[in-house]
Amino acid sequence: MPVEDLSEDQARGELERLAKEIAAHNRRYFQDDAPTISDAAFDALRRRNEAIEAAFPHLKRADSPSESVGATPAGGFAKVVHAVPMLSLENAFNDDDVRAFVAQMQRFLGLPDDEAIALTAEPKIDGLSMSLRYENRRLVVGATRGDGAEGEDVTENVRTIGDIPDELPNGAPDVVEVRGEIYLGKQDFAELNRKQAEAGGQLYVNPRNTAAGSLRQKDPAATAGRPLRFFAYTWGQMSARPAETQMGMVEAFAAWGFPINPLMRRCDSAGDALDAYRAIEAQRAKLDYDIDGVVYKADSLALQDRLGFRTRSPRWAIAHKFPAEKATTVLEAIDIQVGRTGALTPVARLRPVTVGGVVVTNATLHNEDYIRGYGRDGQILRPDAEGAAVDIRVGDTVTVQRAGDVIPQVLDVDLALRPADAEPYAFPTTCPCDLRTEIVREEIATGGEGIVRRCSGEFACPFQRKEHLIHFVSRNAFDIEGLGVKQIEAFFDDPDLPVRTPADIFTLEQRDKDAGGVLKDREGYGEVSVGNLFAAINDRRKIALERFLNALGIRHVGEGTARVLARAYGSWTAFHEAAVKVAAGDEPAREEMDGIDQIGGTVVEAIARYFGEADNARLVDDLVAALEIRDAEQTASDSPVAGKTVVFTGSLERMTRDEAKAMAERLGAKVAGSVSSKTDLVVAGPGAGSKLKQAEKHSVEVVDEAGWFDLIGAT
Ligand code: IVH
Repeated sequence: MPVEDLSEDQARGELERLAKEIAAHNRRYFQDDAPTISDAAFDALRRRNEAIEAAFPHLKRADSPSESVGATPAGGFAKVVHAVPMLSLENAFNDDDVRAFVAQMQRFLGLPDDEAIALTAEPKIDGLSMSLRYENRRLVVGATRGDGAEGEDVTENVRTIGDIPDELPNGAPDVVEVRGEIYLGKQDFAELNRKQAEAGGQLYVNPRNTAAGSLRQKDPAATAGRPLRFFAYTWGQMSARPAETQMGMVEAFAAWGFPINPLMRRCDSAGDALDAYRAIEAQRAKLDYDIDGVVYKADSLALQDRLGFRTRSPRWAIAHKFPAEKATTVLEAIDIQVGRTGALTPVARLRPVTVGGVVVTNATLHNEDYIRGYGRDGQILRPDAEGAAVDIRVGDTVTVQRAGDVIPQVLDVDLALRPADAEPYAFPTTCPCDLRTEIVREEIATGGEGIVRRCSGEFACPFQRKEHLIHFVSRNAFDIEGLGVKQIEAFFDDPDLPVRTPADIFTLEQRDKDAGGVLKDREGYGEVSVGNLFAAINDRRKIALERFLNALGIRHVGEGTARVLARAYGSWTAFHEAAVKVAAGDEPAREEMDGIDQIGGTVVEAIARYFGEADNARLVDDLVAALEIRDAEQTASDSPVAGKTVVFTGSLERMTRDEAKAMAERLGAKVAGSVSSKTDLVVAGPGAGSKLKQAEKHSVEVVDEAGWFDLIGAT
C-alpha cells in the first residue's frame, strides 16, 4: 500500500513489523553471517521504514532501524550459486578459425567432413550476462555471471528492467533459467551523458561499463532510472525444454515475452555462417547497441549435448570477433612489470588515446624480442623497407590495438616520425626489485633460450611476493571481498599490519585486535567495513580444494589444471602427500601424477619444484593450519562410474575417443591413459592390445562399448 494511503494505526503496525524484521535481518547478516534476503531487498525494507517515518514523524519508534548506524550491509550483493555454471566462449579471429571450429566438432562427433552441421549465427552483444531464474513462472532470482560458478544477486534491480518479464505464460516449464545480455543502447547512453554534462557531472566511459554500474546500484530506484535492455540467447537450468534446437529455444523465449535478437539466423554450413557474419558486420554501425562479434552455435541440442563442455567453454559454440580497433599515439616511456612468476613484462606508457571508445594509457610490449622486432621463433615482426626488423623506442609514434577485453598492445612504429635522438631500448639486466637479482632469459624445454626474462628472486623478490598475494585473493582463488589489488598493495607495505604471506591474511584480525583496533581509523576504513573485511576473510577459511590449489600460484597450475588435480586426488591430504613425494623424487608418485589425464611433465616438474622449496613448504603449512580445505566435489556423484578410474582402448563405434572421455568425465569418472592397479574399469573395443593384457594382469574389470552404455544406463 502506498505510504500516503496508510492510516495512523496501519503505519504504527507496519513500523513495528519493520523494526523487528530489519533487526532480524541484521542479526542474520552480521552475527550469523547467513543473510536470508538480498542486500537490495534489505535496502527496500529500510527505505519503506524511512518513508513511513517521514510521513508519520510522531510514530518513530525508540528502536527505529533508521537510527541504527552501520546496519546496512555494506558488503555488496548476496552471492548466488548458479545451478548450471555460466561459461564463456572460445574466440575465433578469422575464417580459418571458424572452419577449424566446425571441423573440430565433426571430428569429436566422428562425422564425415562432408556432413555439415547446422549452426545459428547471431550478434555477440557487448553488455553483461545475466541469468534469470523463474520458478512456477515467477521471476525469483536475477544473478550476474560472477566467476561463472557464483554470481551476485541483483534481483530487485533486474525487476526494474522493462524488457524482463516478471511472469512467464502458463505453457512455460516450472523451472526456467533464461540467460542473455543486459545492455544500454547507444542513443540512451549518449542521452545519459548529455544529461551528465548538463549537470556538470563526470561523463560515462562506454555503454558496457555504464550498464554494469547501473545494474549494481544499491538502490533499485537508481537502476530503474537507467534504460537498461535485454536480449535472451541461452539458458541454464530447465525442468523441460520447449524445443530441440537452439533456434527453437530462442523462439520459445520470444513467445514467453523476452526480446531476442532480430539478426539471429540459422545456417546450413560454415560457409553460410561466414556469410551471416559479413551481413551482421555490415550492419554493425547502424545498430543501436554495441556488438563485438558474431556467435555461432550448433543448432541441434542433441549435438550440443554430445559435444558438451571444456573447463570454461562449450565445444558447440564460438565467438567470431570483429577485427580489433587501432589508434596511433606517442610512446612516452617503457616501464618494467614483474609478474607472479618473475617474468619481466615491458609496459608502454602512452600519451592517452581513445581506441574504440576506451581511453588507453598503457599497453603491453610483450617481451624484449618483441621490442627489438622479433617474434617467438626469431621471425621478423615489423620489417622496414629493406626487410630489417624495426624496433620500438621511447618517443616513437606507435599504433596501438585493442581487441575486446584483451590488454591493449603496441603493434607498429611510424619510422618517418621517429625523433632523431631516439635510442634503442636497453632491457634491464637486474630486477627493479632492488635485490639486484640477475635477470636471465629463461631456459626452455628444448634446451634453448626462451624470450622471457625472469627475476630469479621468487619469494625474496617483493614484486613476485605481492603478485602472489594478488593472485591469492583473486576471483578464481580466495576471492575475498574487500581485499583486492589496492588493499593488498596497502597492506603489503603497512608498518603495523603487514601482509607479506597468504597466511598473514588470516592473522590480520587477531593482529589488529592486539594492536588495539587500528585498522578502523585508517583512511577508507570504518568500524563496519573492518567488520565486513574480517567476516569476508573468515568466510574463506573454508575453501574448495580446486580454489586452494589455484590460489597457491604454482607455475603451470592455473584454474583448469587445479580443477583436474582436485578431482584426481579428491582431498588436500592426498594431493599434498603425493606432491611431497614427487618433490622428493619418488618415482611411483611421479608416474601416477603424470598418468592423470591432462597432466603432463611440465606440470609435474613445477609441482616438484614448488614443494621441494623449503620456503614454500613453510608457507603452505602455515596457511593450511588456518584453513579447512573441502574435498573436491565429485561431479554427478550418483552415477555408477563416479570416482572410478576408467581407461578406453581399442576402437569405439558409437562414439569417438574424445567424446567417450568427455562423457566419462561428465559422469564423474577419471579417465587415464594407461592401465595400472589403480584402474577400476577398462572399456575395450575391437583391436585392444597391450592395455587389455595389463587389465588382466591387474585383474581390472573389462567391458565392451555396449557394456559401457549398459553400465551408465544409456541405451
Ligand atoms: S552464448 C555457454 N550468445 O559473451 C556460453 N553469449 O564470451 C553461452 N555474449 O558470457 C553464451 N552475446 O556474456 C552467447 N549471442 C550471444 C552472446 C553472448 C554476448 C557474451 C556472454 C558470454 C560471453 C562469452
